[in-house]
Amino acid sequence: MNKQVILGVSGGIAAYKSAELVRRLKQAGAEVRVVMTQGGQAFVTPLTFQALSGNPVHTDLLDPEAEQGMGHIQLARWADVVLIAPASANLLARLAHGEATDLLSTLCLATEAPVCVAPAMNQQMWQDAATQANIQILAQRKRHIFGPAQGEQACGEVGPGRMLEPDELVEAVSALFETGVLAGRQVLISAGPTREAIDPVRYLSNHSSGKMGYAIAQAAIEAGARVTLVSGPTDLPTPSMVERVDVVSAEDMYNAVMQRSTQADIFIATAAVADYRVDTVASSKIKKDSDKLTLNLCKNPDILAEVSGLRENRPFCVGFAAETDDVHAHAKQKLLNKGLDMIAANQVGEGLGFNAQDNALQVIWAAGERELPMMSKYKLARELIQLIAEHYSH
Ligand code: C5P
Repeated sequence: MNKQVILGVSGGIAAYKSAELVRRLKQAGAEVRVVMTQGGQAFVTPLTFQALSGNPVHTDLLDPEAEQGMGHIQLARWADVVLIAPASANLLARLAHGEATDLLSTLCLATEAPVCVAPAMNQQMWQDAATQANIQILAQRKRHIFGPAQGEQACGEVGPGRMLEPDELVEAVSALFETGVLAGRQVLISAGPTREAIDPVRYLSNHSSGKMGYAIAQAAIEAGARVTLVSGPTDLPTPSMVERVDVVSAEDMYNAVMQRSTQADIFIATAAVADYRVDTVASSKIKKDSDKLTLNLCKNPDILAEVSGLRENRPFCVGFAAETDDVHAHAKQKLLNKGLDMIAANQVGEGLGFNAQDNALQVIWAAGERELPMMSKYKLARELIQLIAEHYSH
């Protein structure tokens, strides 16, 4: 679950379980920022959550110091999901009434991300008509309500009101992102840069980080696909359930992709493949004897064009076009030249594209196009997968 999670902790004895929840979320691949109410801080200290999450804990709405450089609006935008665990009766009441009286309640109004609550309270408080009415309102507003479970309570009573266990909450959050639009499909993705050896210690490469391709692999998994990621050298962790094939050069990538291309239903080429390689790789380190050095380069195979040109068992082909200028025109030309089903174009240059966290795409196909505005690469990947799924099935 490569998601950015805001974990809201309100006042309840179950807050001690939220410490474990942070660990479980991180183990599942999430980045976690904790926001605590005053009540929450009475049970567990912010320091505990800071140590476990590896991020500063946010407690105040109007204290610039305490917000640690990330104001409530930035936090609201940062989140892929807001999970409030434990959610006290008081917090549910405030959410139901749209109050913005502290950082956590304000955040919930300001975010576009799904908001999930894991209620935890005494069984009588849970069953009270006021709490039930608040829950109804939240459910109608498409807030996700996880639990509560039945059982023994800290107060000694038995009944509904126990917070779900950390594992159950991690699973429930992961499930939110599963769309199933590519259920049963085999998706092949190329990602990252390639390295073209000059001699045993040097190579030619580019600035591609692989982030977009990895985000797409993650989104395809969430959409129910089986995913093979043929990746050039990157530092990125492999998204869970993705089969990763590591390659170095464009020729390696070509071989790895071609071997798997006819089994794929969809091929998404996000890799920044080096267009040229050194004609003859020196067998020992080139010495700096002369003032000038000339490298002879020869063209690498165009992997995407080759896959798109397959006569039999050709997958649905999606290309990427990173351009510094005239993005739309160049992308359209590539769509035609390589005979693609779809192309996603983006502007690259200062702070844009390759190494950035955020990106924007212009997606073009034969009969239309769609603009996906600037957003995190993970959100963008989900939208792109949705578009691919719509066009693949037609
Ligand atoms: O022609 P250009 O390199 O701009 O096209 C970019 C698209 O083609 C990307 O989807 C990239 O992954 C793919 N490509 C490829 N093999 C190459 C060059 C580009 O698959 N040798």
